[in-house]
Amino acid sequence: MNISHLTILAIESSCDDTGVAVLKGNKVLSNLVANQEIHARYGGVVPELASRAHLSNITPTVELAISDAGISPEEIDAVAYTIGPGLSGSLLVGASFAKAWAWARRIPTVPVHHMRAHVLAHFISPGPPPEFPFLCLTVSGGHTQMIHVHSPSNMEVIGATLDDAAGEAFDKVAKLIGLPYPGGPLIDKYAALGNPESFLFSKSKVEGLNMSFSGLKTQVLRFLQAQLSQEPDFIDNNLHDFCASVQSAIVGMLITKLELAVKTTGIKQVAIAGGVSANSGLRKALTEKGSLSEDPWKVFIPPMSYCTDNAAMVGIVGIFDAADKKFGSLADTPQPRMPDLNS
Ligand code: KG4
Ligand code: ZN
Repeated sequence: MNISHLTILAIESSCDDTGVAVLKGNKVLSNLVANQEIHARYGGVVPELASRAHLSNITPTVELAISDAGISPEEIDAVAYTIGPGLSGSLLVGASFAKAWAWARRIPTVPVHHMRAHVLAHFISPGPPPEFPFLCLTVSGGHTQMIHVHSPSNMEVIGATLDDAAGEAFDKVAKLIGLPYPGGPLIDKYAALGNPESFLFSKSKVEGLNMSFSGLKTQVLRFLQAQLSQEPDFIDNNLHDFCASVQSAIVGMLITKLELAVKTTGIKQVAIAGGVSANSGLRKALTEKGSLSEDPWKVFIPPMSYCTDNAAMVGIVGIFDAADKKFGSLADTPQPRMPDLNS
C-alpha cells in the first residue's frame, strides 16, 4: 500500500488537550498540543471547561499546525479526527470542526477510534514499527487493555481492567497525597529518587489477562491513614520512597500480565501505548525484557511525544484508512462510549 502521497490534517480532542497534526504519509510535518492547565486546580478534568477550552484553542492550533507543516490548506487530502471514546462535549468540538473544515474544502473525513490511534502511533516515522501480529498493552487515563494486533484494522482486546485504568490508579494515588492532576507524571518524577522496595503493596489477583487497580487505591488509602496517625509528616518525609513503591506495584502488575499474554499467545513482539507508556518505570521494565539473555522480547516503546494524547497518532490512522478509501460522512456523530476495538 503506497501511503506516501497522502497528506492528512488530524484533530484529537477526546479529553482535555487540543491536539492538531499534519502528516504526509507516515511522516509528521507538525504536531501541536494546546494543554489545558485549568483542570489542575480541580483535581481532575472538568468536562464543561474542557469543551470551552477546545472551542477557543482549535482554530488557532489548526492554523499554526498547517503553517508549521510548511504546506497550504489546499494540499490536504482528508481530515482525520477522534470520534470516540472520550468526553462528549470535547469530542463534539473536534468532530464539528473537522467535518466543517473538510466540507468547506470538498475533501473527505476519517473518524478515528482513540484507542486504535494509540496502538498505531507505533507506525509513525522513523520507527521501525512492529510486524503483525504483535501485542500492545494500552495504558491510559481511561483505558487499560491488552490488545492482540492482527493488522491496522483488526485488533482484538484479549484482556482489560475490570475497574480503574492504570493511569487512573496513578492519578488517584497522587490525589491522596495532595498532588495536582494529572498526578501520574509527578509520581514518576518523585519515584526516580526513591527506593521501590520501601513499602510493599500487594498485587491484585485477577485471573487471566484481565486486570484490576481499584484495590491498590484502597490499600494505599488505608496504609496512609495508618502511617499519618503515627507520623503526621509521613508524606513529606517519605515522598520519594512512597512514589517509587506505588509505581513499582503498578508496573509489576502490568509486566506480570504482559508475561502471561506472551506465554498465552506465543507472540514476542510487545508494544506499549497510551499516557502511562511515558512512565519511566514501565519503560525500564520493558526495556529489560528486550535485553534478556534468554528468549528476549522485541519491544516497542513509543517516543514521549506519542505516549500521551496527541493528534499525530490520529493522523497515522487517517493515513491507513484514507489509503483504503475508508472515509466517514457528515452524518457521523461523536461516540463518547464507543464499543471496544474488536466489537
Ligand atoms: O493517553 P492519555 O494522555 O489520555 C487518555 O486517553 O486517558 O493518558 C493520560 C494518563 C493520565 O492518567 C496520566 O497521569 C498518565 O497518563 N501519565 C502517566 C505518566 N504520564 C502520563 N502516568 C505515569 N507516569 C507518567 N510518566
Ligand atoms: Zn489517550
